[in-house]
Amino acid sequence: MQHEETVVILDYGSQYTQLIARRVREAGVYSEIHPCTLSSEALKAIKPKAIILSGGPCSVSDEDAPQLDKTVLELGVPVLGICYGMQLLAHTLDGGKVASSKEREYGRAELTLSAGSALWEGVDATTPRTVWMSHGDHVVAIPKGFSIIARTSSVEAAAMADPSRNIYALQFHPEVAHTEDGETILRNFLFKIAKVKTGWTMASFVESEVAALREKLGDDHVVCALSGGVDSTVVAVLLHKAIGDRLHCIFVNNGVLRQGEGEEVVSFLTEHFKLNLKYVQAQDLFLDRLDGVEDPEKKRKIIGHTFIEVFEREAKAIPGVKWLAQGTLYPDVIESVSFRGGPSVVIKSHHNVGGLPEKMDLKLVEPLRELFKDEVRKVALELGMPDSIIWRHPFPGPGLAIRIIGDVTRERLDILRKADKIVQAELHAADWYRKVWQGFAVLLPLKTVGVMGDDRTYENVCALRIVDSLDAMTADWSRVPTDILARISNRIINEVKGINRVVLDISSKPPATIEWE
Ligand code: XMP
Repeated sequence: MQHEETVVILDYGSQYTQLIARRVREAGVYSEIHPCTLSSEALKAIKPKAIILSGGPCSVSDEDAPQLDKTVLELGVPVLGICYGMQLLAHTLDGGKVASSKEREYGRAELTLSAGSALWEGVDATTPRTVWMSHGDHVVAIPKGFSIIARTSSVEAAAMADPSRNIYALQFHPEVAHTEDGETILRNFLFKIAKVKTGWTMASFVESEVAALREKLGDDHVVCALSGGVDSTVVAVLLHKAIGDRLHCIFVNNGVLRQGEGEEVVSFLTEHFKLNLKYVQAQDLFLDRLDGVEDPEKKRKIIGHTFIEVFEREAKAIPGVKWLAQGTLYPDVIESVSFRGGPSVVIKSHHNVGGLPEKMDLKLVEPLRELFKDEVRKVALELGMPDSIIWRHPFPGPGLAIRIIGDVTRERLDILRKADKIVQAELHAADWYRKVWQGFAVLLPLKTVGVMGDDRTYENVCALRIVDSLDAMTADWSRVPTDILARISNRIINEVKGINRVVLDISSKPPATIEWE
């Protein structure tokens, strides 16, 4: 979709690039991330209202350092350089110079505003502002036409501006939460300097996306796999708004869902959203194939392949389907740039419906391709979804199969379901469910001795895995108050036959992972 008011962020490999894009969108302006290698023709075609140059891990003078195409500065579009982006401006423009610092400055710094600027409107100039720095190099000579507008104790040119050309630059990161007034500074750039208009709201997204889907799909039929998670549900509800019952949803119960999950999801979506939904109960097929399988990657493959097989069979039974809907999000679409470090290794093969579209000769429709996860949640709210869907913890495709270490039997599934239900219920009851990224129980292939009443028991151990995370790439164990942990443990041991010991996982990711398999 072509957006009227787009801010382009040219990515030089900073870990904060996505954060910049999100901050711009939070200000109500649509933003897109593109690799810094984007050609000036392609950039022109987007007709950006403003351009932001991100930070990055390189030094401008490195042999293979990504550079700035001078024509970007000749488009007449306001530019804001952040960190490496600022150094690039100094390196590229006449008179500017960048030098390496002996030490990398990392963390908080005190910023003193040393000259008035549209960037500083509404920012208190009387006391130093705390800002977040993360850089090795810094600008030692500013380019012709620029003036220094802020300094810190270690960097004389901590911000510089050339208002006549609308080029601004900051050595610190306005996009991170630790920077005081960072939001005001970014907003000043967008609204006071670049004069961008707001208009990117989730209500406007729903309206324009539904219209675009209608136009794109015409009278065609679409098939969509529902998982009960927020992404696939939002995809389905948007498409249903656009094409009604020509959207065919399929929910496959793979036998490794949580207690009552299949029925709950299906009845809610058919009753509340009137989705045209087929509930496929394939539990036995999946569980028979999982019989005796202990290797986690084999479990994933079996579940993935079986899912595709079942889904394909069901989808083929619907006449005239031309499209497959998927819940791809913006972070999956962004072309990532990696200037340092090799390709990332596959640690676990995540299960999705990959391979299906080509196999079935279907075209892909991805209504969420432009959205970040927090925006998907806002759309869900806009569409009237309940908190139980909007804030549901991520649940892996292979479900409880990778939370039962070793062989997945019906009996062990039953034990884990009961324990897991208690974990979910107690996190909700204590108002901790939304504070954590994921919280669940894992059933270990280990029996230990216990005592119940006068009897000796010899039963299973269950581990609690409760983590904080922003994106599942890194995670730390949640510091859940001990009284909540005590209640969970007590209830599991007393109420779940087959478990007589509960332990707590206190590992971070990395080096551990969130799931145990
Ligand atoms: P790990 O265990 O790799 O998990 O730290 C990161 C996130 O991914 C989820 N996860 C999966 N999701 N299929 C999925 O759809 C999978 O095979 C899979 N394995 C892990 C996990 O729950 C966490 O949110």
